Amino acid sequence: MFTLEGKVAIVTGASRGIGAAIAIALADAGASVSLISRTAPQPEVISSLEKTGRLFAHISADLSQMQSIPLVVGSTLNRFGRIDILVNNAGIIRRTPFLEYSETDWDVIVNTNLKVPFFLAQACARQMLAQEHVGQGAESSGQRGKIINICSVLSFQGGILVPAYTAAKHGLAGVTKAMANELAPQGINVNGLAPGYVRTENTAPLQSDPQRFNAIVARIPAGRWGDPADIAGAAVFLASSASDYMQGQILTVDGGWLAR
Ligand SMILES: NC(=O)c1ccc[n+]([C@@H]2O[C@H](COP(=O)([O-])OP(=O)(O)OC[C@H]3O[C@@H](n4cnc5c(N)ncnc54)[C@H](OP(=O)(O)O)[C@@H]3O)[C@@H](O)[C@H]2O)c1
Repeated sequence: MFTLEGKVAIVTGASRGIGAAIAIALADAGASVSLISRTAPQPEVISSLEKTGRLFAHISADLSQMQSIPLVVGSTLNRFGRIDILVNNAGIIRRTPFLEYSETDWDVIVNTNLKVPFFLAQACARQMLAQEHVGQGAESSGQRGKIINICSVLSFQGGILVPAYTAAKHGLAGVTKAMANELAPQGINVNGLAPGYVRTENTAPLQSDPQRFNAIVARIPAGRWGDPADIAGAAVFLASSASDYMQGQILTVDGGWLAR
């Protein structure tokens, strides 16, 4: 049910952090993986991918720019011939009080976290529908494709000092449902995955502020921050045939943060 044998996945923002953990987990489950980021994946990411024995390639692209989309799709097709799974994970955050928030920061956050993921999903869905439909039977998804948008607990809450990020992540959860409604009848699953507080570069300023760090831990029922690997299993589930009847859901993996 969980095998990704023969599937081709694009994972954006896979050079480190949550995207890297997802790319490794998808390869471990059998997928060939196209890793997208501006900088090269960290050496430990490459060595973990090598250990899976699966094919992988890094494509350098700036996903704040719409021009990156044909490059990402075209390079993945050149290398692997098809696209079965898209994980829209690349994301950035800028922490500034609302009263000082700049238009420049708003634009780069919304472009990277919402606009480009939306149009990359559109490009990948077009490819999923155009390509030969393979994979029937119990061991392989009978669906035509899987799109997973990495949302956030800030797809549900307001957060502090990150209004553009909150807007983008609420928007991404919304378009996840909108896309699911149109693509479910065509055999593509679209779902979101919302991590809680995970130890990555994205949250470094919170981790290094003892007051914020401890306040966050105190509110997490699991009693600890998440690690990138904590998020990866849910991504394999959403990429696999185990989730064929799931559409438009935002699956939270947050140590219980939102349940509280
Ligand atoms: N960490 C958390 O607690 C948390 C919680 C909820 C949601 N999330 C979400 O999870 C996702 C991954 O975050 P993370 O915590 O793993 O952050 P991270 O460690 O900072 O990694 C971000 C990844 O996105 C890539 N990226 C950023 N801007 C890009 C651009 N313009 N073009 C191409 N790639 C770009 C980065 O690669 P390059 O810099 O090499 O380009 C990197 O691979 C994001 O969508 C984030 O919002 C994180």
